[in-house]
Amino acid sequence: MSALWTGAELVAATGGQMPREAAATGVSIDTRSLAPGDLFVALRDARDGHDFVAEALAKGAAAAMVDRDAPGVAPDAPLLRVADTLAALTALGAAGRARSQARFVAVTGSVGKTTTKEMLRTALGALGPTHAAAASYNNHWGVPLTLARCPRDSRFAVVEIGMNNRGEIAPLAKLARPHVAVITMIGTSHIGRLGSQAAICEEKADILLGLERNGVAVLPADSAFLPRLADRAAAAGARVISFGETARADVQLTDYVGGADRGTARLLMDGLPLSVHLAAPGHHLALNACAVLAAVHALEGDVVAAAEALSAFDAGAGRGQRVKLALPGGAALLLDDSYNAAPVSVRAGLAVLAAQQATRRVAVLGDMLELGEAGPALHAELAPDAAAAADLVFCCGPQMRHLFDALPAAKRGAHAPDSAALAPLVAAAFAPGDAVLVKGSLGSRMAAVVAAIRARDTAGMTT
Ligand SMILES: Nc1ncnc2c1ncn2[C@@H]1O[C@H](COP(=O)(O)OP(=O)(O)O)[C@@H](O)[C@H]1O
Ligand SMILES: [Mg+2]
Repeated sequence: MSALWTGAELVAATGGQMPREAAATGVSIDTRSLAPGDLFVALRDARDGHDFVAEALAKGAAAAMVDRDAPGVAPDAPLLRVADTLAALTALGAAGRARSQARFVAVTGSVGKTTTKEMLRTALGALGPTHAAAASYNNHWGVPLTLARCPRDSRFAVVEIGMNNRGEIAPLAKLARPHVAVITMIGTSHIGRLGSQAAICEEKADILLGLERNGVAVLPADSAFLPRLADRAAAAGARVISFGETARADVQLTDYVGGADRGTARLLMDGLPLSVHLAAPGHHLALNACAVLAAVHALEGDVVAAAEALSAFDAGAGRGQRVKLALPGGAALLLDDSYNAAPVSVRAGLAVLAAQQATRRVAVLGDMLELGEAGPALHAELAPDAAAAADLVFCCGPQMRHLFDALPAAKRGAHAPDSAALAPLVAAAFAPGDAVLVKGSLGSRMAAVVAAIRARDTAGMTT
């Protein structure tokens, strides 16, 4: 197999110097997940990657990209010296995109980016070799890294593009140059930084600025922002394929039948009826499937084969993963949705909780972050949904206090200042027959609650 990057290609793409030329089979920015043969890129984030170059080389890195001397590294080590490692990684990403023959799909939106990206990986994977971003790699280093990792022989590539602030999506979209751009939805995530939903809409629409000629915009038909998004698509010279429940949608979700652990969606696509069986529950996944099939259609792929492939899709850890637990007195179910939370996804998670067969349904909710001034109201407004879906609600964080106080007294489990304080209370209350949903923004560290619940398991089994 030919290398992902030859030494000469690395030098040409980055403008760096590599006295001892070495080829790389992969690209890594983290020694914990580095594979032998990878190019290790020393980025600066919470830590300075230069402090890990010696470790990377000891673990078998083919070479390391650096912009300063790294401690404990031999003078003759295989180093690629560049002026700035982040800029050089971006250049390598651009080179990976430029040489690729793959059809690129880029995904943005307030909620559902990673889920849609993973569904695209599954659906397009049935049609040809497909490369997709790892994890939620969607920012100024995640997008270049995804592009730099794109294998030479990929037929399809899926890039996730996110933002925390205005102006972040456009440069990443121009780097990824997608043939198809998907906007999952315009919600309220990060409204604290952006100011308004209209501003969020404009920011998300910036993904269209990166579209290739004759590109396609896959847009949410149920959104009040569809007209504005369609205008932006027209300005970018893109064709629109809309998806959603409205009869106006090009790809319409006509029916969804959800069970406790699966669901079936019926779609109409240009008049063609399609069924999609999903191995994970949730109306929201059916909508994501519509966006995915719209993208496959835009790429002129086989939508029937892609729809069939989606039956293998399963939500990952932290995104609604179902964990069956054995407690001393019987079985219980954990819905691990601890990775992220925004109002729309909390409602989606609560709907899945409501669909569970259980003696008692329990919701454990941590703060939804970065909602700014709107935060207290957006939390309190979820109280009726939480009370309807759950028999008991546990909350942590100052924002969730607003939801907790708005609950009927009989539904109140406990409120704690943070997840570490809440975790033992939830673990102690957890009983056989329970179904427990754990959800909150990553910064709310709800993984601590998941860990405390899982610690009560006597067998440990993931379904
Ligand atoms: N279309 C959707 N509507 C509502 N919630 C969704 C949707 N798609 C995914 N979710 C839920 O939102 C949360 C975040 O999903 P994720 O795909 O990681 O979003 P992102 O990558 O945009 O942060 C998860 O709990 C997921 O189950
Ligand atoms: Mg994500």
